[in-house]
Amino acid sequence: MAFATRHFVRAASSSAAATAAAKKLIVKHVTVIGGGLMGAGIAQVAAASGHSVVLVDQSDDILKKSTKGIEESLKRVAKKKFADKPEAGAEFVEKTLKNLTTSTDAVAVVHSTDLVIEAIVENLEVKNELFKRLDKFAPERTIFASNTSSLQITQLANSTTRQDRFGGLHFFNPVPMMKLVEVIKTPMTSQRTFESLVDFSKAVGKSPVSCKDTPGFIVNRLLVPYMMEAVRLFERGDASKEDIDVAMKLGAGYPMGPFELLDYVGLDTSKYIIDGWHSLEPNNPLFAPSPLLNKLVAEKKLGKKTGEGFYKY
Ligand code: NAI
Repeated sequence: MAFATRHFVRAASSSAAATAAAKKLIVKHVTVIGGGLMGAGIAQVAAASGHSVVLVDQSDDILKKSTKGIEESLKRVAKKKFADKPEAGAEFVEKTLKNLTTSTDAVAVVHSTDLVIEAIVENLEVKNELFKRLDKFAPERTIFASNTSSLQITQLANSTTRQDRFGGLHFFNPVPMMKLVEVIKTPMTSQRTFESLVDFSKAVGKSPVSCKDTPGFIVNRLLVPYMMEAVRLFERGDASKEDIDVAMKLGAGYPMGPFELLDYVGLDTSKYIIDGWHSLEPNNPLFAPSPLLNKLVAEKKLGKKTGEGFYKY
């Protein structure tokens, strides 16, 4: 009887442990690495939704610029959201900024974080070096996620020992405005990790969709070949870039034409993505590089950010 009771207690407690282990992680503390365009936006929406956020970058100067950008963006959000209540708007900005701290030392801040979101330079070696280092210092429970647009999540996960707690969280630019997050599940991502990432995406006010770890996930896999096809149409002299843009706005109901969108995204970013896919699948005509795009990038005409791309700004 005594044995049976002990056995029962042990069985009950081990099944309680199994349930606890299977329970989703409720993310409260987030570390965002990279305070550029995307990282600052992700830090902003996470802090605005009540998470405790540390934003990490390489220098205090960069972080100062990121924080200033976040503050300005929050004020714009507050103006819209609390149009009739400016005091509530000011309180929203203040409260959000209180949830946000910054650091130049990723290792020092990951020791008690639930989720690390990486949004640094799009370079496999640099990202892998960062994940490998953080893997040694972050707690067991911590989930790692990358915001990469074009690299394989599996290759990043393999630089750590926590492949089951690793996934993709692909936000869209500008993060505070765009409602979508693609949650990427590799063959090694556990269901618990996946569900925790889906819940986190919802908690920051986004609508998550899920996708396997395939090049471009959903949006870019459809969007990038479409933009490249527009460039090829223009390169062949079949239509002007202005007419192609008007056609897609008025005929397909798109908010921007493909050339306007290319200039907005950055021609260097688009070239980087298509070159990467072309090297993976050289015979896929959808991934063929474009001489015109390559020429503009070589001339440093990268789009809106440099004042000229397909159009002048
Ligand atoms: P960005 O160039 O604006 O920002 C990158 C930031 O990372 C810089 O502030 C840089 O100082 C910092 N950084 C670089 N190495 C670092 C390191 N080892 N430790 C800490 N900080 C480091 O780049 P952006 O556009 O924000 O892109 C970041 C990531 O997000 C990339 O993986 C990109 O593919 C992805 N992405 C970009 C989108 C876009 O529209 N720009 C959209 C969705 C994803």
